Formats: sequence, structure tokens, C-alpha cells
Amino acid sequence: MKMFLDSAKTDEIRHALDLWDVDGVTTNPRHVKESGKPFRTVIKEIAGLFAGTDKPVSVEVDPHLTDWRKIVAQGLELSRLSPNFVIKVSVSEQGFKAIRELSRQGVRVNATLIFSVPQAWQAARAGAAFVSPFLGWKEQHGDAASSLISEVAAMLKNYGYRSEIIAAAIRNSRQIADAAIAGAHCITAGMAVYQDSFCNPYTTMGEQIFQKAWDATPEA
Ligand code: E4P
Repeated sequence: MKMFLDSAKTDEIRHALDLWDVDGVTTNPRHVKESGKPFRTVIKEIAGLFAGTDKPVSVEVDPHLTDWRKIVAQGLELSRLSPNFVIKVSVSEQGFKAIRELSRQGVRVNATLIFSVPQAWQAARAGAAFVSPFLGWKEQHGDAASSLISEVAAMLKNYGYRSEIIAAAIRNSRQIADAAIAGAHCITAGMAVYQDSFCNPYTTMGEQIFQKAWDATPEA
């Protein structure tokens, strides 16, 4: 399962590249706002961090755009800024048309804000390179989310669609496990979620036990 960092903060992305060899990045308008920098400034900085790699960086079109022609125009403009850019388009009737047109023109699209199998199916039909079911948002609003990934995976397999699933809006280690077991191709989460997932109280306890044993072992 590929590991993407869900962030537009360049210090976090540098850390994730250096220490984790992260496989890519996903951004969204909220992450860009949290970076404190203008949209085009920050996405160009992020592109610079990935230059010379084939790792994808998802950047989202203006969420106010509702006409597919405008989504396509902006998607094409953004895609020209970096070969790493994957264009994030929200799923809707106009969004699916934009995904189809961008994909037809060779632009990789990440279909975002997916909450159901039918939405993922339409995105896959339209040629999206990635489909992003938002697990955390579903659970936050009281819906069971763990089955969504396996259902989307089954749908893609049934028809041989080549879209990759990005398990998105991941909030905790249990959701990472659920996504991996369900067959997500990729996962995207924030820095704190990954760092928390590296830890386990038993590991800490075990390290302390082994340190004591090491210290109590006679030296040669
Ligand atoms: C995915 O591509 C999205 O950027 C993301 O997972 C949304 O999650 P958020 O609620 O952490 O912004």
C-alpha cells in the first residue's frame, strides 16, 4: 500500500520524504489554507520537492468551479506546472465529465470526496487514475466506513478498472489497518496520524525491558 502524506506544509513533506520515503502527497484547499501561503506558491514549492521523481502530488482545482469546461481548463493549467501533479476533482455530474475530459487528454485525476460505490464507479468509468473514499468524514458523521474500501475494491476488480483507491481522511491507526486489509492501493493521512501509528505501548515497554537487560549484562 502506497503511503501518501495529506498535507501542504513543506516542512512536514520534507520530513516525510527524508524519514519515511513517502510515496506522494495529497493536498486540499484546507491544507493549503493551513500552509499560510498562496495556493500557486505552495503547490510550486511542493512540486520542487518532488522534482525528478515519479511520485504523485495531488492538487485540487478551485472548489467553486461547477462547470466542467472551467474545471478542465484549470486542471490543464495546473497539470502544466509539474509532471508530478495529479488533478483533484470533486465527484458530481459536471465533475465526472471533467474527469473524463482531463483523462482523455492524458492528465491524471484524483476523484475526491467519494462516499459511495456508485460515485467511485462513475469516477473509474470516466478514467480517474485515483479514487479517494473519505473514511474519516464518513465515520465522523456516524456512517460505518470500513466496508467502503473493500466494496470499491470489489467493484474495480469486477470490471477491470485501473483506478487506484486512496483511502483518505484517515484519522487513526485502526483506519490504516482497515484500509490495508480491505485492499486499498494507497492511503493518505496527516503527519500526526502516521507518527501515532508508529508507536505502541508494548513496543515502548519492550524497549525498556531490553535496555535493562542490556545494562545488566556483563561486559566482555
Ligand atoms: C484526501 O485526498 C484529502 O485531502 C483528505 O484526506 C481530506 O482529509 P482532511 O479532512 O484531513 O482534510
